[in-house]
Amino acid sequence: MRTQVAIIGGGPSGLLLGQILTNAGISNVILEARSRDYVLGRIRAGVLEQGLADMLRAAGVGGNMDRHGQVHEGFDIAVAGARHRIDLAGLTGGKTVMVYGQTEVTRDLYDAREAPTFHEVADVAIHGADGESPHVTWTGGGEAQRLDCDFVAGCDGFHGVSRKTVPADILRQFERVYPFGWLGVLSRTPPVSAELIYATHQRGFALCSLRSPVLSRYYVQCALDEDLAEWPDDRFWDELKRRIPAEAAAALVTGPSVEKSIAPLRSFVAEPMRWGRLFLAGDAAHIVPPTGAKGLNLAASDVHYLSDALIAHYRDGTDKGLEEYSARALARVWKAERFSWWMTMLLHRLDLDDFGQRIQRAELEYLLSSKAAMTALAENYVGLPF
Ligand code: APR
Ligand code: PHB
Repeated sequence: MRTQVAIIGGGPSGLLLGQILTNAGISNVILEARSRDYVLGRIRAGVLEQGLADMLRAAGVGGNMDRHGQVHEGFDIAVAGARHRIDLAGLTGGKTVMVYGQTEVTRDLYDAREAPTFHEVADVAIHGADGESPHVTWTGGGEAQRLDCDFVAGCDGFHGVSRKTVPADILRQFERVYPFGWLGVLSRTPPVSAELIYATHQRGFALCSLRSPVLSRYYVQCALDEDLAEWPDDRFWDELKRRIPAEAAAALVTGPSVEKSIAPLRSFVAEPMRWGRLFLAGDAAHIVPPTGAKGLNLAASDVHYLSDALIAHYRDGTDKGLEEYSARALARVWKAERFSWWMTMLLHRLDLDDFGQRIQRAELEYLLSSKAAMTALAENYVGLPF
């Protein structure tokens, strides 16, 4: 088998890259370790920057998002029971975010995909990425398979094989693991608020989010060693009510969880994002704590740079984009890493000494009292330019 671009990973990164390449007439094949249903069963964040929303529309897969997504012009930060609105549109000259689940984005991309996709592949290995003729091997249906290609896009997430293919003496990895996680619940209940509420509280952080007028998403900060079995729905709802403003707690409509899980928080970056003809994109190259809702949006900017570069290679015979890909992508990745780290340190209950606690409180008070500080938050939240 032969294709121009072999894409490892059929999550948002791989699917969005594949869609853009197919639209540009560039052949590509996606190799995905899991079944389509398994991939679509993942519950992830749901805040899309304008850049990603525009990419989906340009790729011809923005229809459902525009019909069912919700444009949000702001969100609240709750401190000591008081809600403070961050006026995204007012502070950024009209920029907004689109609230539309990553699961739905992934489904829309799968539904649009026409190029070959192999699911439930095993033993994927990348060969010759540092040469002129890479190829990928895997086991599919019990048979050994081989795909010859011009380029390999490593879109296989944090636990994938692509990053591990880069030689250890070339790869540099930067990491911060946080000593807490997010316990998340999805419930078929009307959202407690039309806009998101990021609540800071001495018991811990909480977030009120949504997927639709009848589907809500909530999180509470929890210890990393929490046992999900010790968190029946009632305990979750009681803890959430303790952490959000009283009027929101009183208005909260609770119901059975349709999904409940604990996610660890991590900041991670791998450099470089290119090795020869292997290009890393999305979670394969970087992870952010979900506080700033940047994970999916960083995958989008990587795909924006990489797809532009590949199209220029095939259409114009120029490789400047490919040569500059890693530096260009990392420049935006690190700004989003900084923002996600800052928002996480600002809003979570941290094990700080007295000085540290005073600094955290001063940071929050300064933010909510300064238009300049809120503008900086707003321009990062809606997304820095590609
Ligand atoms: N071979 C083939 N596929 C693999 C392999 C492998 N060795 N390892 C992992 N995969 C698949 C996974 O099953 C997954 O479907 O690669 C895909 C990677 O998808 P994601 O982990 O969702 O990463 P990405 O597409 O970059 O999307 C980033 O997803 O995890 C969230 O918060 C993250 O919002 C961000 C977004
Ligand atoms: C979500 O809706 O899952 C969500 C929203 C905003 C975040 C994180 C998660 O910052």
